[in-house]
Amino acid sequence: MLIHSASQLLTLPGGPQRGRELGRLGIIPNGAVLVRGGKIAAVGSTAELRADFPNEPALDAGGKVVMPGFVDPHTHLVWAGDRAAEFEMRLEGKTYLEIMAAGGGIVSTVRATRQASLETLKDQTRARMRSLLRHGTTTAEAKTGYGLETQSELHQMQVLLELDAEGGLELVPTFLGAHAIPQETKDNPQAFTDQVVSEMLPALHAWWQAHGGQRPLPYVDVFCETGAFSLEQSRQILTAAKALGFPLKIHADEFDNLGGASLAAELGAASADHLVKTSAADIAALARSNTVAVALPCTPFGLADPHYTPARAILEADGLLAVASDINPGTAWCESMQFVIALACRYLRLTPAQAVAAATINAAAAVGRAERVGSLELGKQADLLILSVDDYRHLGYRFGTNLVQTVIKRGQILPA
Ligand code: NIG
Ligand code: FE
Repeated sequence: MLIHSASQLLTLPGGPQRGRELGRLGIIPNGAVLVRGGKIAAVGSTAELRADFPNEPALDAGGKVVMPGFVDPHTHLVWAGDRAAEFEMRLEGKTYLEIMAAGGGIVSTVRATRQASLETLKDQTRARMRSLLRHGTTTAEAKTGYGLETQSELHQMQVLLELDAEGGLELVPTFLGAHAIPQETKDNPQAFTDQVVSEMLPALHAWWQAHGGQRPLPYVDVFCETGAFSLEQSRQILTAAKALGFPLKIHADEFDNLGGASLAAELGAASADHLVKTSAADIAALARSNTVAVALPCTPFGLADPHYTPARAILEADGLLAVASDINPGTAWCESMQFVIALACRYLRLTPAQAVAAATINAAAAVGRAERVGSLELGKQADLLILSVDDYRHLGYRFGTNLVQTVIKRGQILPA
């Protein structure tokens, strides 16, 4: 299939974009892309590709933008129920951490999720996945973390693998058994930490050998935060995970600076996420590493908190920056990377080009898939979007409506 007559074909060439390089879109005006066998077989101008492949079935992009599908590198996709009541409590003045300390927050979603059957969890999660895909996300990282005990966490992992196998939105699984301290060990976070290390991680490893098939091991993540896991507990969990061969991620500096970002850099984590209260020293440590800094602007927006990731300081320091939705039922129920881009332009002070690169090739790097997705280059997976606009800067500029007209996943056009 030859997709032609794109006003702007955004190719995002040359791999992940560090520091001031961020924003290299590789625009081909009046561009075209040849898709064969679910992969990108050629990119160039419409004139060149039409001459080279005259008999190829054609799809007219109609003078609109064609670009890679978004990669959403941080989502909490699997949960049951909702927390609309807590949203109202926050509007009345309670903070997120206060609600969490009073037995609400993450653990209230844990109650609902533990009770849900596999089919219920799949149905509720699938509905969100369809929405992500319609908004242009073609690959998403997806975390467990609403079980907080071995069987329920593995149940959520099972949901993720089964939904991924359905073939729409592609998922990159992450185990977040250390998402919060469960009610059972509320007064003893260290006991729960020890349980994650001695019971959950080995169980996950064994489960993966039996159920993971050919897939690489999932990421292991931890919520390093006041009221969740301390720096030392996070180190304990991530070090144990690394020893078992798991690749790593961390939630760091969302509300307080505990040093999690530097820990991520030290342990060679794929990404450190949130990074709101991140210090200059943490930023320098990240910039010296290959750990991607993942900003989640929907979260402060969702909490009506004025503090956002110091994205420009990360770029000045020559760090690798990506953006993600953080979709979850507590702080940020947002299915649209287009909205993430709109927030990134305003509150992270990125240009639309920087935000687009942070939501595609750099987001792919944050989930270890930069060789396969996130750009339109020869041999990569044909995951691409046709927008309803002729200038990519409408991403960011406009918000609240869906500018994705057509989604193509592994070369297949998604039914409208
Ligand atoms: O990334 N910070 C921890 N986890 C989520 C919130 C999850 C929830 O509130 O259910 C986040 O913001
Ligand atoms: Fe998160």
